[in-house]
Amino acid sequence: MEMLTLSHVAKSFGSKQVLRDVSFSVPEHTVFGFVGQNGAGKTTAMKLILGLLDADGGEISVNGRPVRYGNTPTNQYVGYLPDVPEFYDYMTPEEYLCFCGEIAGMPKGERKSRSRELLRLVGLEQDNRRIKGFSRGMKQRLGIAQALFCRPRLLICDEPTSALDPVGRRELLDILVNVKEQTTVLFSTHILSDVEHICDEIAFLHEGNIVLQGPLEKVRRKRRDTGVELELARTEEVKFLLSEFPFLELSGSNRILLKEAKKLPDVLRLIADRNLAILRLERQEAALEDLFLEVVGK
Ligand SMILES: Nc1ncnc2c1ncn2[C@@H]1O[C@H](COP(=O)(O)OP(=O)(O)OP(=O)(O)O)[C@@H](O)[C@H]1O
Ligand SMILES: [Mg+2]
Repeated sequence: MEMLTLSHVAKSFGSKQVLRDVSFSVPEHTVFGFVGQNGAGKTTAMKLILGLLDADGGEISVNGRPVRYGNTPTNQYVGYLPDVPEFYDYMTPEEYLCFCGEIAGMPKGERKSRSRELLRLVGLEQDNRRIKGFSRGMKQRLGIAQALFCRPRLLICDEPTSALDPVGRRELLDILVNVKEQTTVLFSTHILSDVEHICDEIAFLHEGNIVLQGPLEKVRRKRRDTGVELELARTEEVKFLLSEFPFLELSGSNRILLKEAKKLPDVLRLIADRNLAILRLERQEAALEDLFLEVVGK
């Protein structure tokens, strides 16, 4: 089932059209990466999903129900971590989460046990100091705990890893993967290695349109040419191949890169004819980053 669907969504601010025709669906229990450059419109799209902005056109549904601007029963299914989460920083994390539970109308005993459960999930159960002294990574993790408090069916995180160091990022990504059992995760980012690490599906937003989308593996395969690397046993054989085929490139000691995979049979034929010794032949994995640059025309 689709937890979130956007269909032909458009949004302008004055004469600036930020979203032109945005359509994508997020299947239940996936981690979905919403990718785009700075200013692409990721936060705008998230605010539309939360009914905080009024779309100019198109439809959005959460858990099968339509989202309406300013009248948002669909938000009962959603937990939201904004790009810069704000807390009452004189509170401890447990006090803060209990306070959120109180606002949500949860009975006292339940809000305490739920707070502890969530602090354990995000690795903050030992931190009893005030939020004021928290690092950015700790604040993001607390923000996830808060967003998960009322057991949302959809967790929306706006660039949760952007300001974090590699360790903080890894910890946060691990949490997102862990929670997909209990919810569905939509997170925005421009950090493509994060996407490669944890996403099941992605959508690339560029100039107001979704230019690429689908399961990560399928999107990767869309790259026109992935290239092949060959490693040979002897340097003279490498030199021989380079002289025979000008399109080959030396990529390391006794290693040759063939960028146009369709020419591989020609190369292999000559290798077989001359009885050359191949140590390794490997298809190069297309980095998402290359694909992204290709798509945005850089
Ligand atoms: N309330 C607003 N009024 C006018 N313009 C806005 C408003 N909100 C966003 N914009 C413009 O819309 C464009 C998209 O902004 P948005 O914040 O959605 O991008 P983003 O993809 O989240 O970027 P970032 O990666 O920097 O967070 C930007 O050019 C921004 O200046
Ligand atoms: Mg943003």
